[in-house]
Amino acid sequence: MLAGGCVRRSAVDRNSFSNSRAQISLLAQSSTFDIFPRMSISQVSSTSVESLLKEDRIFPPHTAQADALGGANVESLEQYHALHARSVADPSGFWGEIAQDFEWFKPWTSVLEWNCPDAKWFVGAQTNVCFNAIDRHVLEGHANDVGLIWEGEPQASGMPEVRHLAYGELQDEVSRFANALKALGVKKGEIVTLYMGMVPELPIAMLACARIGAAHSVIFGGFPAPSIVDRVLDAKSRVIVTCDGAWRRGSVVPLKKNVDEAMQSLVAQGHAIEHCVVLKRTATPIEWNAARDHWWHDVIAKESSECPCEAVDAEDLLFVLYTSGSTGKPKGIRHTSGGYMVYTAYTARMTFNLKPNANHVFWCTADIGWVTGHSYIVYGLLPNRVPTLMYEGAPNFPAEDRFWEIVARHRVTHFYTAPTAIRAFMKWGESHPKKHDLSSLKLLGTVGEPINPEAWIWYHEQIGASRCPIVDTFWQTETGGHVITPLPCATPTVPGSCTLPFFGIDAAIVDETGNELPPNTGGLLVIRKPWPSMLRGIHGDRQRFIDTYWSRIAGMYLAGDGARRDERGYFWIMGRIDDVINVSGHRLGTMEVESALVSHPAVVEAAVVGMPHEIKGTGIAAFVTLSLQATASEALKAELREHVSSVLGAIARPDMLRFTAALPKTRSGKIMRRLLRDVAAGKESTQDTSTLDDFGALAALRGNDE
Ligand code: PRX
Repeated sequence: MLAGGCVRRSAVDRNSFSNSRAQISLLAQSSTFDIFPRMSISQVSSTSVESLLKEDRIFPPHTAQADALGGANVESLEQYHALHARSVADPSGFWGEIAQDFEWFKPWTSVLEWNCPDAKWFVGAQTNVCFNAIDRHVLEGHANDVGLIWEGEPQASGMPEVRHLAYGELQDEVSRFANALKALGVKKGEIVTLYMGMVPELPIAMLACARIGAAHSVIFGGFPAPSIVDRVLDAKSRVIVTCDGAWRRGSVVPLKKNVDEAMQSLVAQGHAIEHCVVLKRTATPIEWNAARDHWWHDVIAKESSECPCEAVDAEDLLFVLYTSGSTGKPKGIRHTSGGYMVYTAYTARMTFNLKPNANHVFWCTADIGWVTGHSYIVYGLLPNRVPTLMYEGAPNFPAEDRFWEIVARHRVTHFYTAPTAIRAFMKWGESHPKKHDLSSLKLLGTVGEPINPEAWIWYHEQIGASRCPIVDTFWQTETGGHVITPLPCATPTVPGSCTLPFFGIDAAIVDETGNELPPNTGGLLVIRKPWPSMLRGIHGDRQRFIDTYWSRIAGMYLAGDGARRDERGYFWIMGRIDDVINVSGHRLGTMEVESALVSHPAVVEAAVVGMPHEIKGTGIAAFVTLSLQATASEALKAELREHVSSVLGAIARPDMLRFTAALPKTRSGKIMRRLLRDVAAGKESTQDTSTLDDFGALAALRGNDE
């Protein structure tokens, strides 16, 4: 046993692990590797595989950890295996039992109807997600218990603004806003767009939609106007809720101004937003159209705090959330009410070992504009009656210790963040967490991208004081909740692996024909059976839904990630297999960035690939061919970067931009992206260039500094 309660892998394990390294480099040459059409050898083996080899410790769960969490929800690996086996053998029986813990206004006639790719869960049942998140606790005597803790970013007087919202207050505020939405004519089934900062009114608005049976589409507040336009048009929203501005690192993000710009462009495209509700947050001067704009405080002032929860069908739409795909157009992922509610709340309970009466305070640092915030700030947390904390601003405002100050101030017990954030904390240095009392922490989590073991160990030692279990949760916007994850009191963890499938998840690594591959062979990650919170479609695009997830391997959900499974059945995610890159844990389609670049008049052609990045995991490299009229210059580079940011948001701003007279292409005209990835990573290409049309293009690229 080593310090920190970890054990070294046995010699046998170590051997099989180095075998796996050999396997992976073999993969590069084998035909199995061809299933990664757009991945280079270097890309697969860089962060997610090679750095794993530097760490060979296993971290078994301890009884002390379970005690600290108030007792284990799943006690041992044996118990996990038994429950998992049952959950996949009899999904209806398993989920039927779990769902008994929720309030249903009408029971289901069958738990599951599966007609691939269409799943219906809790068929015929009626419920309301908001009722399960809030009203139920009020009815059970918890009106005064805190459900939501919020901390604002500014610290003008040295102390930040903090709000503690009890379930009773949440019920009042949600009901008032639900009535306001009804007064604006919002009907059951329609999609309300929410473009707000991280303020309590955002979850309040989401829950208000759920309360009246309307759906929401939350747009991340960091997106610029064009992203609002696309999403509003796709969702056909008539009502948008926003803020005058949002606080970010001490400055104001002009949300209403962005919405105004979007609304103008929408009108030009024949779609008018009828009502725009504006929450006053930053008191920034804004433009006002009295016929369309309403202050949040005015609309709620007129309404009563009585608003009964609408009974909705389990399969009624709860929300649409847009995510990048491999084409330029984001996909509106559809999630419905019953299955999403049951699965997110149950995964939250098991993965984080939540207990309602154990003084837990759960903090997920994601923005609610991403699925992580939907599922593990709002919908998965509230039904568990564990307070959920949300923070408005940046981790380094006013200084790099802000997160640790928050942990100490609110006695946070569960801390859930992304590897990119952990790498930033590492860079800022351990003196920041050391300044604060982090003794309240009992469990740490990560999500969004493979975590490199160095970051895992730093997190474990510096934040978790070598005593907190770490759950590395793999999932996607499409899966709704965790699908591969350790259970903190049951699963021994290995840095870099998201370990084992959650209950009900029949995950596997297969080849192109759907055959399961032997251990340590890289292949396609699939899920072979339906689960309650699986996406129900892409909004308005049935064919894309089928093509993206269900066509490549008949009858199986294709996650879009390459992965391998080791000899103990643990999953290791190797990276995306499509033209999607994962920048700071956020998905971005390379084609979206290319389209943004080409929309600039100086650009005739662009190719975008991922490149290794110390903090972001993957950075963005753009290769740009200019029009004959344009002249390459540093100023133009800066302008193009800024242009991408103004179209897609700061997340998409290229980290590296190179001008090139021509892009390397095959004779059939396809851009050789693998080659560009090697150039971006500063590596000699191992790629076969025999099909390259113009060797001069490659030579020019190599000679061209950023
Ligand atoms: O590539 C995987 C990566 O993030 C993708 C999903 O992105 P998104 O839908 O934006 O949701 C992110 C938050 C759930 C996946 O296809 N990913 C997510 N979690 C992990 C991960 N890769 C490795 N390990 C993880 N724990």
